[in-house]
Amino acid sequence: MTNVPTNNTFLAACRREKTPYTPVWLMRQAGRYMEEYRTLRAQHGFLELCKNPDLAAEITVTPVERLKVDAAILFADILLLLEPMGVGLEYSKGDGPVIHRPVRTGTDIDRLKEVEPDKNLSFVFEAVKRCRRALSDKVPLIGFSGAPFTLASYLIEGGGSRNYIHTKQLFYADPAAWKRLMVKLTRAVADYLNGQIAAGAQAVQLFDSWAGCLAPADYEKFVLPYTRAAIQAITPGVPVINFATGTAGSLKLLRAAGGDVIGLDWRVNLDEGWATVGYDVAVQGNLDPVALFASPKEIRTRVADILRRAAGHDGHIFNLGHGILPETPVANVIALVEAVHEVSSR
Ligand code: CP3
Repeated sequence: MTNVPTNNTFLAACRREKTPYTPVWLMRQAGRYMEEYRTLRAQHGFLELCKNPDLAAEITVTPVERLKVDAAILFADILLLLEPMGVGLEYSKGDGPVIHRPVRTGTDIDRLKEVEPDKNLSFVFEAVKRCRRALSDKVPLIGFSGAPFTLASYLIEGGGSRNYIHTKQLFYADPAAWKRLMVKLTRAVADYLNGQIAAGAQAVQLFDSWAGCLAPADYEKFVLPYTRAAIQAITPGVPVINFATGTAGSLKLLRAAGGDVIGLDWRVNLDEGWATVGYDVAVQGNLDPVALFASPKEIRTRVADILRRAAGHDGHIFNLGHGILPETPVANVIALVEAVHEVSSR
């Protein structure tokens, strides 16, 4: 890979070691806001791209070269893990992903097929290998999975949801069935992440993107034990990022679930969030993704504010509070990465 300086700041920050500047990468850094991606996407379906290891590796590496970020994230999707369960996953135009046969009852749950990642998801592991080869140890590769709760909510709702009524109804009405579902998903998530690690992923992130819909007590009872079990089952020594959004009121519980790095979204001030989870864990975040629609000057001001709140503590990884939006101007993303590197340089 040309033109990318070799650096290990991301992994060092995961371990709360000193770094010469604050490392930065961005959730959804490989995606539709980039012309290179849109060009490929015009010729291939989304699932087709995910299942083509050469193209997936190319999509993974392009933003590292363009943006000069300090880590690559594998191009894949959290819902790939659900396809081998036999629920009919489709990425339909306009509506986002749909699950054609959502699970709503204990019987549905017991009918789900066991995921065997080595057999059904080997294309992901192959993409990981090709990414590592293309990155040639210049920056680390992050693997990822949906967290058990966010995957469960997709399986149950059949797609995105506003109020998660079916999901919550299941744990209110049939906690035993909920438990069976979460145990299945926890095992699948851990096997899948360990497969990515075996193939070469150097850190992994759990996306619990929808956990913010839960009251803290429900998170604690119906989600935390499974997230914790998944994290505890990850290959030792590999940093785990525990990411959720809308969880300012549950940060202590998120911390209790585990992870070397806790994701903070923009609805909490970074200093307050870090004080809540504790300075004995690293944090990742937390610029509002919409701030990338401001001028480069305003972006720099906001970067400086987040860095001021991190106050030079070891273990801050700069990121957005959630993924880059498709309409984001690439020039502003480049300006963001530059600003983080320059302002944090020590
Ligand atoms: O971060 C990265 O650059 C790596 C790739 C990545 C994708 N999805 C690619 C993608 C990652 C980490 C994800 C995670 C993901 N997928 C999450 C959790 C993170 C989050 O943003 O909350 C969720 C909830 C999904 C499910 C999903 N996949 C949705 C809701 C959609 C449609 C809407 C959308 O945001 O695009 C997808 C499709 C998807 N996943 C695309 C990409 C690049 C767009 C597909 C296309 O080209 O049409």
